[in-house]
Amino acid sequence: MHDIDLYRRSDEGMSVALIREAFHYQSRFAGSTMVFKIDFPVTEDPAFPLLMRDLALLAQTGFRVVIVPGAKEWIDSVLGEYGIVSGYAAGNRITTAEAMPFVEMAAFHVANRFMTGLSADRVDAVIGNFVRARGLGVSGGVDMAHSGQVDKISIDSIGRILNLGAVPILPCIGWSPAGKPYNVSSDEIALAASTALGAVKLFVVSVHEGLRKGAYSLPENISIGENGRVIRMTPHEAEAVLASLHGDASALVNAGKPGDKPLAELRLALRASCAGIERVHLIDAREPGAVLRELFSNLGSGTMIYADEYESIRPLKTKDIADILRLMEPLMQQGLLIRRNAEVIQEKKEDYAVFEIDGSVHACGALHDWGESQGEIAAIATDPAYTAMGLGRRIVRYLIDRAVKQGFRRVFVLTTHTHDWFEFLGFKEAPVESLPERKRNGYNRERKSMVFALDL
Ligand SMILES: CC(C)(COP(=O)(O)OP(=O)(O)OC[C@H]1O[C@@H](n2cnc3c(N)ncnc32)[C@H](O)[C@@H]1OP(=O)(O)O)[C@@H](O)C(=O)NCCC(=O)NCCS
Repeated sequence: MHDIDLYRRSDEGMSVALIREAFHYQSRFAGSTMVFKIDFPVTEDPAFPLLMRDLALLAQTGFRVVIVPGAKEWIDSVLGEYGIVSGYAAGNRITTAEAMPFVEMAAFHVANRFMTGLSADRVDAVIGNFVRARGLGVSGGVDMAHSGQVDKISIDSIGRILNLGAVPILPCIGWSPAGKPYNVSSDEIALAASTALGAVKLFVVSVHEGLRKGAYSLPENISIGENGRVIRMTPHEAEAVLASLHGDASALVNAGKPGDKPLAELRLALRASCAGIERVHLIDAREPGAVLRELFSNLGSGTMIYADEYESIRPLKTKDIADILRLMEPLMQQGLLIRRNAEVIQEKKEDYAVFEIDGSVHACGALHDWGESQGEIAAIATDPAYTAMGLGRRIVRYLIDRAVKQGFRRVFVLTTHTHDWFEFLGFKEAPVESLPERKRNGYNRERKSMVFALDL
């Protein structure tokens, strides 16, 4: 086959894989609620209309989209224009009675930008008084005046709007039961709305490069994407990052350098995870299609903080056989793996394990018992789109654990091309004679596989 044919085949294969993945996520999440907290600078970016188009597309295809616009920078600029200087206490703006009308004007102006963006894509949107608030009162001797906190989110009203296929927009204003307006942090509104509405996801959309390797001290083994950005983190890892930078993560809710947006967002994500939001996605709006990629592919471009069991290794089920043959086929063609068919795999089904991410299989491996307390680790394969993310290593570790539990004293592998990798995992070269007799008798000398083994 010519190179160009190979290229076309793999290119088409990738598109089909992507479409398959998108369908998987569409069927999984359609009908569920997603909250988008979107920073004001996003609305000034050339990428804003495209972001709005993507959100409109989601609303039109059955996703329940809720928008919480951040308005801080616009409020600052409006207040500045009218010569009003804001003070801050414990990270919150002190909103005086004089400032409040301007804050309301700025908040609704920003909310209106989102409504206008959605109108361009013919999606109905409703800016509403969905937040009941109460004042922050006097904090550390400072009267916070019109600065408030979320008391309650009107889930019934928001639910009715969502049922109509429209998008509710929650500006950073809340009202007391007596009708007094308060300026409420959009982070707090996003957090409260996500929990009250039972959102499956909270997206935090901004215009910065986010948590990147090199810029922050990150835990080892954390998954870094091609763009250098952390792909995903458990709440535990997020906590470790915050603690390593500031000493104690629990004391950090409003602390830290005020300008450090990525860390502020990580804190918000951690709080949302702790409040039960399964997935929080931190996204840079400037990356084309960032929201769709994050939603419809498990290799999105942002950072995901996930509270559920996102990845897992589990025993093979019959329905997975087609998937692992799809993974192994190109490797069998290249002679990296020996040929197996569905019957052979079915016969030894219990030996296999798969690495599943969000319901799709992306790596596999097997442990075969050859007697004499020795197990063979075989059929290790990782989806080419998921290599160098630790999947192969974790499958091997899982199989080693299984071997220990089964009472094996040694595991071995026969390899023609991957000996360096197994050596890196602690395996040592061993003579063919060290193999259990049954395996030795079937050893294909022409294939010249090297034997690498690990004593348990
Ligand atoms: C070998 C294989 C399983 C690794 O899968 P993986 O999920 O990418 O593995 P990990 O993420 O745990 O490890 C990746 C690391 O191993 C390195 N690596 C991958 N293949 C290697 C090889 N053949 N030799 C040496 N190092 C290798 C990568 O460069 C990467 O290094 P880094 O962490 O410094 O970036 C995968 O490349 C594969 O499917 N190979 C073809 C099948 C095969 O040979 N199977 C083994 C025979 S049973």
